[in-house]
Amino acid sequence: MKYVIDIKDESNWLFPTKGYNPDGSISEDQRTIILPEGMDRRYCFTDSVMRKTQQIGPYVRTHEHWQGYETFFVESSSMWFYIDGKKTLVEAGKIIHMQPYEAHSFIFNGDVQFRGTFHDWNCADDSVATSTLEAHYPDAKKDPEFFALLCSNIDLHMRGIADYEEVPPEQVSAVKDPKNPMAKFEIDGAVLKMITARWENGGKKEIWLAEMEPGFWAKWEGYPGVQDLFYVQSGKVKFTIYGEEYIAEKDCLVKLPKYAPRSFEVLEPTAMYDVGGVTRWYALLQDFTALKKYEPEKATKEAFEEMRKRYGCQITEFGKK
Ligand SMILES: [Fe+2]
Repeated sequence: MKYVIDIKDESNWLFPTKGYNPDGSISEDQRTIILPEGMDRRYCFTDSVMRKTQQIGPYVRTHEHWQGYETFFVESSSMWFYIDGKKTLVEAGKIIHMQPYEAHSFIFNGDVQFRGTFHDWNCADDSVATSTLEAHYPDAKKDPEFFALLCSNIDLHMRGIADYEEVPPEQVSAVKDPKNPMAKFEIDGAVLKMITARWENGGKKEIWLAEMEPGFWAKWEGYPGVQDLFYVQSGKVKFTIYGEEYIAEKDCLVKLPKYAPRSFEVLEPTAMYDVGGVTRWYALLQDFTALKKYEPEKATKEAFEEMRKRYGCQITEFGKK
Protein backbone atom coordinates (compact mmCIF):
# COMPACT_ATOMS: atom_id res chain seq x y z
CA MET A 1 0.00 0.00 0.00
CA LYS A 2 1.28 3.46 -0.93
CA TYR A 3 1.05 6.19 1.69
CA VAL A 4 2.39 9.05 -0.45
CA ILE A 5 0.83 9.08 -3.92
CA ASP A 6 2.26 11.36 -6.61
CA ILE A 7 -0.76 12.44 -8.69
CA LYS A 8 1.44 13.22 -11.71
CA ASP A 9 3.00 9.73 -11.78
CA GLU A 10 1.07 7.78 -14.44
CA SER A 11 1.66 4.52 -12.61
CA ASN A 12 -0.74 5.88 -9.95
CA TRP A 13 -3.56 6.48 -12.45
CA LEU A 14 -6.48 4.11 -12.06
CA PHE A 15 -8.80 3.71 -15.07
CA PRO A 16 -7.42 6.57 -17.22
CA THR A 17 -10.23 7.48 -19.59
CA LYS A 18 -11.55 10.30 -21.76
CA GLY A 19 -14.76 12.27 -22.10
CA TYR A 20 -16.08 13.38 -25.47
CA ASN A 21 -17.91 16.34 -26.96
CA PRO A 22 -21.01 15.65 -29.08
CA ASP A 23 -18.83 15.96 -32.23
CA GLY A 24 -16.53 13.17 -30.97
CA SER A 25 -13.60 15.44 -30.00
CA ILE A 26 -12.02 14.94 -26.57
CA SER A 27 -13.43 17.06 -23.75
CA GLU A 28 -11.60 15.54 -20.79
CA ASP A 29 -8.66 13.32 -19.83
CA GLN A 30 -9.63 11.73 -16.55
CA ARG A 31 -8.03 9.34 -14.07
CA THR A 32 -9.01 8.12 -10.65
CA ILE A 33 -6.25 8.36 -8.05
CA ILE A 34 -8.10 6.96 -5.05
CA LEU A 35 -11.34 4.98 -5.12
CA PRO A 36 -14.03 5.87 -2.58
CA GLU A 37 -14.12 3.93 0.65
CA GLY A 38 -16.58 3.31 3.47
CA MET A 39 -20.23 4.12 4.08
CA ASP A 40 -20.03 7.72 2.89
CA ARG A 41 -17.86 6.81 -0.12
CA ARG A 42 -15.31 9.19 1.29
CA TYR A 43 -11.65 9.74 0.25
CA CYS A 44 -12.35 9.48 -3.51
CA PHE A 45 -9.89 11.63 -5.47
CA THR A 46 -9.66 12.18 -9.23
CA ASP A 47 -7.37 14.14 -11.52
CA SER A 48 -8.58 15.54 -14.85
CA VAL A 49 -7.48 17.84 -17.59
CA MET A 50 -10.64 19.49 -18.88
CA ARG A 51 -9.91 20.53 -22.44
CA LYS A 52 -10.69 24.07 -23.59
CA THR A 53 -14.38 24.12 -24.49
CA GLN A 54 -14.65 23.91 -28.27
CA GLN A 55 -18.06 25.20 -29.19
CA ILE A 56 -19.72 27.84 -27.09
CA GLY A 57 -23.35 28.29 -28.06
CA PRO A 58 -25.88 30.78 -26.72
CA TYR A 59 -26.44 28.59 -23.64
CA VAL A 60 -25.04 25.54 -21.85
CA ARG A 61 -26.79 22.42 -20.59
CA THR A 62 -26.57 21.70 -16.88
CA HIS A 63 -26.64 18.49 -14.88
CA GLU A 64 -27.25 17.67 -11.24
CA HIS A 65 -26.62 14.83 -8.80
CA TRP A 66 -29.22 13.59 -6.34
CA GLN A 67 -26.87 12.01 -3.81
CA GLY A 68 -23.32 13.05 -4.48
CA TYR A 69 -21.21 16.00 -3.33
CA GLU A 70 -18.39 17.20 -5.59
CA THR A 71 -15.47 19.45 -4.70
CA PHE A 72 -12.99 20.51 -7.41
CA PHE A 73 -9.64 22.24 -7.09
CA VAL A 74 -9.21 24.50 -10.15
CA GLU A 75 -5.43 24.29 -10.57
CA SER A 76 -4.79 26.07 -13.87
CA SER A 77 -6.36 28.45 -16.43
CA SER A 78 -9.93 29.60 -15.76
CA MET A 79 -13.54 28.57 -16.36
CA TRP A 80 -17.07 29.87 -16.43
CA PHE A 81 -19.10 28.18 -13.75
CA TYR A 82 -22.91 27.98 -13.98
CA ILE A 83 -24.67 27.24 -10.72
CA ASP A 84 -27.46 28.48 -8.43
CA GLY A 85 -28.97 30.54 -11.27
CA LYS A 86 -25.70 32.42 -11.71
CA LYS A 87 -22.69 32.42 -14.00
CA THR A 88 -19.27 33.44 -12.73
CA LEU A 89 -15.61 33.37 -13.72
CA VAL A 90 -13.49 30.99 -11.62
CA GLU A 91 -9.73 31.39 -11.88
CA ALA A 92 -6.92 28.99 -10.95
CA GLY A 93 -6.44 28.74 -7.18
CA LYS A 94 -10.15 28.64 -6.39
CA ILE A 95 -12.25 25.65 -5.39
CA ILE A 96 -15.84 24.85 -6.31
CA HIS A 97 -18.23 22.76 -4.24
CA MET A 98 -21.52 21.30 -5.47
CA GLN A 99 -24.23 19.82 -3.29
CA PRO A 100 -27.06 17.55 -4.45
CA TYR A 101 -29.70 19.20 -6.67
CA GLU A 102 -27.49 22.17 -7.51
CA ALA A 103 -27.61 22.08 -11.32
CA HIS A 104 -24.21 22.99 -12.72
CA SER A 105 -22.18 23.35 -15.88
CA PHE A 106 -18.77 24.59 -16.98
CA ILE A 107 -17.14 26.36 -19.92
CA PHE A 108 -13.36 25.91 -19.82
CA ASN A 109 -11.37 28.89 -21.11
CA GLY A 110 -8.21 26.81 -21.54
CA ASP A 111 -7.01 23.36 -20.51
CA VAL A 112 -7.93 23.25 -16.82
CA GLN A 113 -6.22 20.94 -14.33
CA PHE A 114 -9.27 19.89 -12.36
CA ARG A 115 -8.80 17.77 -9.25
CA GLY A 116 -11.88 16.39 -7.57
CA THR A 117 -12.88 14.83 -4.31
CA PHE A 118 -16.34 13.46 -3.55
CA HIS A 119 -18.55 11.81 -1.03
CA ASP A 120 -21.86 9.97 -1.09
CA TRP A 121 -21.45 9.57 -4.83
CA ASN A 122 -21.28 6.30 -6.73
CA CYS A 123 -19.44 7.89 -9.68
CA ALA A 124 -16.50 5.53 -9.34
CA ASP A 125 -18.54 2.34 -8.96
CA ASP A 126 -18.80 1.84 -12.70
CA SER A 127 -15.10 2.56 -13.39
CA VAL A 128 -14.07 -1.09 -13.60
CA ALA A 129 -16.98 -2.09 -15.83
CA THR A 130 -16.63 1.02 -18.04
CA SER A 131 -12.87 0.69 -18.47
CA THR A 132 -13.27 -3.02 -19.30
CA LEU A 133 -15.92 -2.15 -21.90
CA GLU A 134 -13.68 0.59 -23.35
CA ALA A 135 -10.77 -1.88 -23.59
CA HIS A 136 -12.97 -3.89 -25.97
CA TYR A 137 -14.92 -1.00 -27.51
CA PRO A 138 -12.78 2.17 -27.28
CA ASP A 139 -15.61 4.34 -28.66
CA ALA A 140 -18.28 3.08 -26.26
CA LYS A 141 -18.73 6.45 -24.57
CA LYS A 142 -19.34 8.08 -27.95
CA ASP A 143 -22.43 5.88 -28.35
CA PRO A 144 -25.39 7.97 -27.11
CA GLU A 145 -27.22 4.84 -25.97
CA PHE A 146 -24.35 3.72 -23.73
CA PHE A 147 -23.59 7.25 -22.52
CA ALA A 148 -27.20 7.82 -21.40
CA LEU A 149 -27.16 4.51 -19.53
CA LEU A 150 -23.85 5.38 -17.86
CA CYS A 151 -25.16 8.78 -16.73
CA SER A 152 -28.30 7.34 -15.18
CA ASN A 153 -26.22 4.70 -13.37
CA ILE A 154 -23.81 7.21 -11.86
CA ASP A 155 -26.33 9.66 -10.39
CA LEU A 156 -25.80 12.20 -13.16
CA HIS A 157 -29.08 13.74 -14.29
CA MET A 158 -29.35 16.18 -17.15
CA ARG A 159 -31.29 19.36 -16.60
CA GLY A 160 -32.46 21.98 -19.02
CA ILE A 161 -30.47 24.76 -20.58
CA ALA A 162 -28.82 27.44 -18.50
CA ASP A 163 -28.99 31.13 -19.28
CA TYR A 164 -27.77 32.57 -16.04
CA GLU A 165 -27.02 36.08 -14.81
CA GLU A 166 -23.30 36.95 -14.62
CA VAL A 167 -22.07 37.87 -11.13
CA PRO A 168 -18.68 38.20 -9.39
CA PRO A 169 -17.46 34.93 -7.76
CA GLU A 170 -17.94 36.37 -4.25
CA GLN A 171 -21.69 36.22 -4.89
CA VAL A 172 -21.68 32.46 -5.53
CA SER A 173 -21.47 30.42 -2.33
CA ALA A 174 -20.29 27.35 -4.26
CA VAL A 175 -17.05 29.19 -5.18
CA LYS A 176 -14.45 28.95 -2.42
CA ASP A 177 -11.51 31.30 -2.29
CA PRO A 178 -8.64 30.16 -0.02
CA LYS A 179 -7.56 33.81 0.18
CA ASN A 180 -10.91 34.72 1.72
CA PRO A 181 -12.18 31.66 3.62
CA MET A 182 -15.40 31.58 5.62
CA ALA A 183 -13.41 30.80 8.79
CA LYS A 184 -9.73 31.21 9.63
CA PHE A 185 -7.72 30.39 12.77
CA GLU A 186 -4.07 31.20 13.41
CA ILE A 187 -2.03 28.81 15.50
CA ASP A 188 1.71 28.71 16.21
CA GLY A 189 3.32 28.08 12.80
CA ALA A 190 0.15 27.59 10.75
CA VAL A 191 -3.03 29.23 9.46
CA LEU A 192 -6.07 26.95 9.27
CA LYS A 193 -8.80 27.89 6.77
CA MET A 194 -12.20 26.31 6.35
CA ILE A 195 -12.89 25.68 2.66
CA THR A 196 -16.15 23.72 2.80
CA ALA A 197 -18.24 23.59 5.96
CA ARG A 198 -19.86 20.50 7.47
CA TRP A 199 -23.32 21.95 6.80
CA GLU A 200 -22.41 22.11 3.10
CA ASN A 201 -21.57 18.40 3.11
CA GLY A 202 -24.70 16.91 4.64
CA GLY A 203 -22.87 16.71 7.98
CA LYS A 204 -20.42 14.13 6.62
CA LYS A 205 -17.20 16.10 6.36
CA GLU A 206 -15.49 19.49 6.17
CA ILE A 207 -12.47 20.44 4.07
CA TRP A 208 -9.70 22.56 5.58
CA LEU A 209 -6.56 24.13 4.19
CA ALA A 210 -3.49 24.31 6.45
CA GLU A 211 -0.91 26.89 5.36
CA MET A 212 2.13 25.86 7.36
CA GLU A 213 5.60 27.28 8.02
CA PRO A 214 8.77 25.18 8.04
CA GLY A 215 9.19 23.64 11.48
CA PHE A 216 5.46 23.20 12.11
CA TRP A 217 4.80 19.66 13.27
CA ALA A 218 1.92 17.50 14.48
CA LYS A 219 1.62 14.13 16.16
CA TRP A 220 -1.42 11.83 16.41
CA GLU A 221 -2.72 9.50 19.09
CA GLY A 222 -0.92 6.16 19.28
CA TYR A 223 -3.38 4.29 17.03
CA PRO A 224 -5.62 6.86 15.28
CA GLY A 225 -9.08 5.39 14.78
CA VAL A 226 -9.74 6.93 11.36
CA GLN A 227 -8.07 7.05 7.98
CA ASP A 228 -6.82 10.47 6.86
CA LEU A 229 -6.32 11.85 3.38
CA PHE A 230 -4.28 14.99 2.72
CA TYR A 231 -3.65 16.82 -0.55
CA VAL A 232 -0.31 18.68 -0.69
CA GLN A 233 -0.91 21.50 -3.16
CA SER A 234 2.50 23.09 -2.64
CA GLY A 235 5.53 22.76 -0.38
CA LYS A 236 7.27 19.84 1.28
CA VAL A 237 6.33 17.79 4.35
CA LYS A 238 8.08 14.87 6.03
CA PHE A 239 5.63 12.26 7.32
CA THR A 240 6.56 9.50 9.72
CA ILE A 241 4.22 6.53 9.26
CA TYR A 242 4.72 3.25 11.17
CA GLY A 243 8.09 4.70 12.22
CA GLU A 244 9.33 5.23 8.64
CA GLU A 245 9.88 8.57 6.90
CA TYR A 246 8.19 9.65 3.66
CA ILE A 247 8.44 12.98 1.83
CA ALA A 248 5.24 14.50 0.42
CA GLU A 249 5.64 17.39 -2.03
CA LYS A 250 3.48 19.42 -4.41
CA ASP A 251 0.92 17.26 -6.27
CA CYS A 252 0.97 14.45 -3.70
CA LEU A 253 -1.80 12.78 -1.75
CA VAL A 254 -0.98 11.36 1.66
CA LYS A 255 -3.19 8.42 2.60
CA LEU A 256 -2.81 7.46 6.24
CA PRO A 257 -4.45 4.15 7.12
CA LYS A 258 -6.57 3.66 10.20
CA TYR A 259 -4.46 2.71 13.26
CA ALA A 260 -1.20 3.84 11.57
CA PRO A 261 1.01 5.65 14.11
CA ARG A 262 1.91 8.96 12.42
CA SER A 263 3.32 12.46 12.65
CA PHE A 264 4.61 15.10 10.24
CA GLU A 265 7.05 17.98 10.10
CA VAL A 266 6.90 20.79 7.53
CA LEU A 267 10.17 21.29 5.61
CA GLU A 268 9.16 24.13 3.25
CA PRO A 269 6.18 26.55 3.29
CA THR A 270 3.28 24.22 2.54
CA ALA A 271 -0.38 24.34 1.56
CA MET A 272 -2.04 21.07 2.55
CA TYR A 273 -5.76 20.18 2.53
CA ASP A 274 -7.54 17.78 4.87
CA VAL A 275 -9.62 16.05 2.21
CA GLY A 276 -10.90 13.16 4.35
CA GLY A 277 -12.51 15.79 6.54
CA VAL A 278 -13.55 13.59 9.45
CA THR A 279 -12.38 15.91 12.25
CA ARG A 280 -14.84 18.60 13.36
CA TRP A 281 -12.15 21.29 13.08
CA TYR A 282 -14.60 24.20 13.03
CA ALA A 283 -16.31 23.18 16.27
CA LEU A 284 -12.99 22.50 18.00
CA LEU A 285 -11.22 25.69 16.90
CA GLN A 286 -14.24 27.91 17.43
CA ASP A 287 -15.05 26.57 20.90
CA PHE A 288 -11.49 26.65 22.16
CA THR A 289 -10.77 30.11 20.71
CA ALA A 290 -13.89 31.51 22.40
CA LEU A 291 -13.01 29.84 25.70
CA LYS A 292 -9.52 31.40 25.58
CA LYS A 293 -11.08 34.82 24.93
CA TYR A 294 -13.91 34.84 27.50
CA GLU A 295 -12.80 32.39 30.19
CA PRO A 296 -9.03 32.18 29.79
CA GLU A 297 -8.54 30.52 33.16
CA LYS A 298 -10.58 27.55 31.88
CA ALA A 299 -8.65 27.19 28.59
CA THR A 300 -6.31 24.58 30.00
CA LYS A 301 -4.50 21.68 28.39
CA GLU A 302 -7.08 19.36 29.96
CA ALA A 303 -9.95 21.41 28.49
CA PHE A 304 -8.36 21.17 25.04
CA GLU A 305 -7.85 17.45 25.50
CA GLU A 306 -11.54 16.99 26.35
CA MET A 307 -12.65 19.11 23.38
CA ARG A 308 -10.41 17.44 20.83
CA LYS A 309 -11.79 14.04 21.82
CA ARG A 310 -15.36 15.33 21.67
CA TYR A 311 -14.86 16.68 18.15
CA GLY A 312 -12.95 13.69 16.76
CA CYS A 313 -9.51 15.32 16.51
CA GLN A 314 -6.85 12.64 16.81
CA ILE A 315 -3.92 15.06 16.72
CA THR A 316 -2.62 15.32 20.29
CA GLU A 317 0.36 17.64 19.90
CA PHE A 318 1.18 20.37 17.37
CA GLY A 319 3.14 23.58 17.13
CA LYS A 320 6.36 25.05 15.84
CA LYS A 321 9.70 23.46 16.66
FE1 LIG B 1 -21.31 17.22 -11.66
